[in-house]
Amino acid sequence: MENRSQWGTRAGFIFAAVGSAIGLGNIWRFPATAYESGGGAFFIPYLIALLTAGIPILIMEFTMGHKYRGSAPLTYKKMSKGSEFIGWWAVLVAFVISTYYSVIIAWAISYSIFSFNLNWGSDTEAFLFTDYLNLTVDPGQTGSFVPGVLIPLIIVWAVVLGILFKGVKKGIETANRIFIPALVIIFLIIVIRAITLPGAIDGLEAFFAPDFSKIGNPDVWVAAYGQIFFSLSIAFAIMITYSSYLPKKTDLTNNAFIVGFGNSSFELLAGIGVFGILGFMASQQGVPVDEVVSGGVGLAFVVFPAIINEFPALNELFGFLFFASLVLAGLSSLMSITETYVAGLVDKFKISRSKAVLFGGGTAAVISLLFATQGGLSFLDAADYFINQFGVAFVGLVEVVVIAWFLRKLGDFKEHANEISDIKLGWWWTLSLSVITPLVLGYTMYGLFKQNLL
Ligand code: PHE
Ligand code: NA
Repeated sequence: MENRSQWGTRAGFIFAAVGSAIGLGNIWRFPATAYESGGGAFFIPYLIALLTAGIPILIMEFTMGHKYRGSAPLTYKKMSKGSEFIGWWAVLVAFVISTYYSVIIAWAISYSIFSFNLNWGSDTEAFLFTDYLNLTVDPGQTGSFVPGVLIPLIIVWAVVLGILFKGVKKGIETANRIFIPALVIIFLIIVIRAITLPGAIDGLEAFFAPDFSKIGNPDVWVAAYGQIFFSLSIAFAIMITYSSYLPKKTDLTNNAFIVGFGNSSFELLAGIGVFGILGFMASQQGVPVDEVVSGGVGLAFVVFPAIINEFPALNELFGFLFFASLVLAGLSSLMSITETYVAGLVDKFKISRSKAVLFGGGTAAVISLLFATQGGLSFLDAADYFINQFGVAFVGLVEVVVIAWFLRKLGDFKEHANEISDIKLGWWWTLSLSVITPLVLGYTMYGLFKQNLL
């Protein structure tokens, strides 16, 4: 019965897991979050979050997938019948994210093409909202399709579903082996250009200047843990699914350290690149750096095009490289989220991978078309808000509490991981998962409910 797909090599798995982790979160979420949460001082809560939640949960999820060899729902079910719902819940969150994450990648495809002629002009904000997104309907209405979004969106899904169709080794592994090295090279070129721009140094100073007074603020800690969860793609069913394709003999703990530090290194690199460029922009406009700081959609699709206009040379090329890096980072993450429900369907209904790709991926693709309408942006904002508020932290909390306290599985997992690894898991791992992570996530949830419901 054991004919589960497998990665071809250990490196293949690592590329795929790093590919899932490195995404829009690294490029446009981390730099602004770090800046607002204490700059250089943010590295203290950030590193603590990485070591007490990020890497410990990665190790736990790698161990679960490897031990039970199942998609997230099947893994939970094998662990304990009553916990299957946690797997489906995580898969549902992943499904929702995939419907709009794909849309952002579609925008990035359009913008890589706009780069050739710097089509966005000088008013990049008006270009995004009026010319490109054609936002002319009231929030809550759909309006008609925006062809500039619809066409690249169909391409995104065709590529991702095509890759998943080919399977774990031939599809996902091969694609990540090409995408991730390409992404790193492109990004290094951008960062080198960024830090050699006039004014870059002011941007870096602003980014790294530590504001230690922020460290006492609980919100900063919540931001650090939130960044680690989103950025490492943990509590999303992804890492469980990917590790279920690992061969028997593999060093799970070591893999988790590589993925965790790999993702954070890229995040740091992105921070340096983004702030180098923001420093350049501030110096062009003769304003302090903090007046130009932004993140998210605004940073990537409004601020960056405006700065690229001002580049001393090769503007079109750097514009293209930047948006191409968003496309590569996004596609490798989208593949991983989509694989969670493809694998879930295969395991649950014993259907073929092709059918699961067609039904699961097809449904997500069709729903995502909603975001390619004139009302798309307001739906996108709503979905993203909902998921970020109630998706990740909630699943993560239930996951660690159930595993550590109800099912008491950490001892078994520790033994399983230690059997093959040179890095032996000890008390810090158990303490992180059974006490520190639940407390931080519990506090986060408490804050969210208070803010939203009271
Ligand atoms: N980890 C990805 C990033 O940093 C985001 C992501 C989250 C991707 C969840 C897939 C699932 O952008
Ligand atoms: Na990330």
